[in-house]
Amino acid sequence: MNKKIRKIINKKNKSKIVCLTAYSKNIASILDKHCDLILVGDSLGSVLYNYKSTKEVTLQIMINHSKSVRLGVKKSLMVFDMPYNTYNNPSEALKNARLVMKDTKCDAVKLEGGKKIIPIVKHLVKNKIPVMGHVGILPQTDKKFSFKGKKQKESNRILNDTKLLENAGVFSIVLECIEIKLSKKITEQLRIPTIGIGSSVNCDGQVLVIDDLIGLSQSKYKFVKKYVNINRVIEGAVKKYKLEVLKKHFPKAKHSFRN
Ligand code: KIV
Repeated sequence: MNKKIRKIINKKNKSKIVCLTAYSKNIASILDKHCDLILVGDSLGSVLYNYKSTKEVTLQIMINHSKSVRLGVKKSLMVFDMPYNTYNNPSEALKNARLVMKDTKCDAVKLEGGKKIIPIVKHLVKNKIPVMGHVGILPQTDKKFSFKGKKQKESNRILNDTKLLENAGVFSIVLECIEIKLSKKITEQLRIPTIGIGSSVNCDGQVLVIDDLIGLSQSKYKFVKKYVNINRVIEGAVKKYKLEVLKKHFPKAKHSFRN
């Protein structure tokens, strides 16, 4: 097993796992110093491209961003989010995952879903592709984005899905917007780590979209905490630049070339 994956699994019940998304090299190289896992999430569809849903994200877009991220990631585990319609059956999933691993040099791929995708997960794992699971809200296929685990039947299904995924060989599972007590139960019952987004402190680790955390996006999700308003910082710098250009204070001689 990949050493980085072993390290993530070994953190369970010892230390929380720190994860964030990245879509490009410069951000990835900052995150790499502080994260255990960096996810090239298909959330880039809405965050960067204004797509109505992640369904529009293509494999090629994900590969391009992942190649950039790879340049900034040295120590963290890099996970590639397989986009919608790229893992409809075991052979399609393997063909695409192999291409992705070869082109982007990522360490693992992430797939959304439970029971339905078990044959796909098993086929990838059998063929030495490390897989991360994703249950709860499934942005690629869900129509309604409300938290999961309100009803007993739904909770039982999700808990069962996580056990099936663990048995199929995933090394970790993202829990997206799962009710507090359910995320605790899942985390306690699995041997592999759970990574929460909107799923409470009960998970073994946490993930957020970096643009949300730094205030670059306009996201208003309940589960997001904005640690800085980077928009304001960027705007301040741009205003200063504009003023200096207009007043001819920039560029100075030290920014210019002379023979
Ligand atoms: O696409 C994504 O960024 C994700 C995370 C938010 C878990 O799947």
